[in-house]
Amino acid sequence: MGSSQQAGWCKKPTSPTNARATLEAVRKIVDTIVLLTIAVVTGATGNNRVTVTVGSSSVLTCSPKSNITMVTWKINPKVGGFCTLGYRADQNKTDRTNCSDSINWKLRPDHDPTLEMRQVEIAHEGDYTCEVVATDGNFYKTHHLTVLAPPRLTLYCDDHGVPVCEAAAGKPPAQISWVLESTSIPKEDAHDNGTVTVLSKFTALSTNRTNTTCIVSHPAGNQSKSIACRPSENITCHLCCVIFSLASLLVLLFLLAVFHLYTFCDSRTMRNQ
Ligand SMILES: *[C@@H]1O[C@H](CO)[C@@H](O)[C@H](O)[C@H]1NC(C)=O
Ligand SMILES: *[C@@H]1O[C@H](CO)[C@@H](O)[C@H](O)[C@H]1NC(C)=O
Ligand SMILES: *[C@@H]1O[C@H](CO)[C@@H](O)[C@H](O)[C@H]1NC(C)=O
Ligand SMILES: *[C@@H]1O[C@H](CO)[C@@H](O)[C@H](O)[C@H]1NC(C)=O
Ligand SMILES: *[C@@H]1O[C@H](CO)[C@@H](O)[C@H](O)[C@H]1NC(C)=O
Repeated sequence: MGSSQQAGWCKKPTSPTNARATLEAVRKIVDTIVLLTIAVVTGATGNNRVTVTVGSSSVLTCSPKSNITMVTWKINPKVGGFCTLGYRADQNKTDRTNCSDSINWKLRPDHDPTLEMRQVEIAHEGDYTCEVVATDGNFYKTHHLTVLAPPRLTLYCDDHGVPVCEAAAGKPPAQISWVLESTSIPKEDAHDNGTVTVLSKFTALSTNRTNTTCIVSHPAGNQSKSIACRPSENITCHLCCVIFSLASLLVLLFLLAVFHLYTFCDSRTMRNQ
């Protein structure tokens, strides 16, 4: 309908620039009307963001409509294959292609087209679109599913007695902070499955490390742990000690030798006299 109207307007004897501007205005009005009509007819509610933690369950709602003729869930994960779950009321039949067993109808689809996901994995992240054909119009709704992976927190003392805090395999990457201000820059290590390991060493100006606390902030939950590290003596100092001892020993041996030589010579001169 839009194109035939545009064609009609084009035949008007206006100057080219005027014609273009008018055409543009009309096109916008037509587009708006078309969009409004679609919205009214289909009752689209648009997009919805859903955040789930790995291993938990999630329920994705579809349409409150009754008298559903057909429902199709189109699942498009970020990684892996496309999968669909469908129901046809005329045959009272469901079908599924490629969907894993952890994705299924929550109840009977002839009553409720809600989708249920059990044991959510990172690979399930993606778009879940429900399309409904009902006696009073069509309907669709898309859920953008984001999966969170809580990081595993480990806190330990390294060889030099420096506290090291690790937040392993978090999605999104965790934020590491220390109770006493630390000036260190955390190191991030991304993994193939979309998770990130963050490592932070405690480097404070004060050497008071009696009790250090590492705080890991993450949307899937915050964690904290404390540790007391005993700062080890410097390796160079150890080396100094060894060299100093060896030197002392050599000096002592030398003195002993000199003393023996002296007493030996002394006894000889005494005997010769
Ligand atoms: C559903 O369909 C039945 C007949 O099949 C009709 O009586 C009823 O009014 C319909 N309900 C809605 C909400 O359209
Ligand atoms: C099923 O998934 C595989 C990959 O996992 C994909 O290659 C294939 O196209 C999918 N089939 C359908 C019908 O979507
Ligand atoms: C559809 O089939 C299920 C079993 O698969 C049955 O329990 C239900 O009553 C059927 N519904 C209709 C409307 O026939
Ligand atoms: C060191 O820490 C202890 C307790 O953690 C505190 O009582 C003391 O005041 C601290 N000393 C310095 C110099 O910050
Ligand atoms: C986690 O910590 C951050 C600050 O680091 C805070 O904004 C957030 O509300 C905390 N979340 C929870 C669940 O406690």
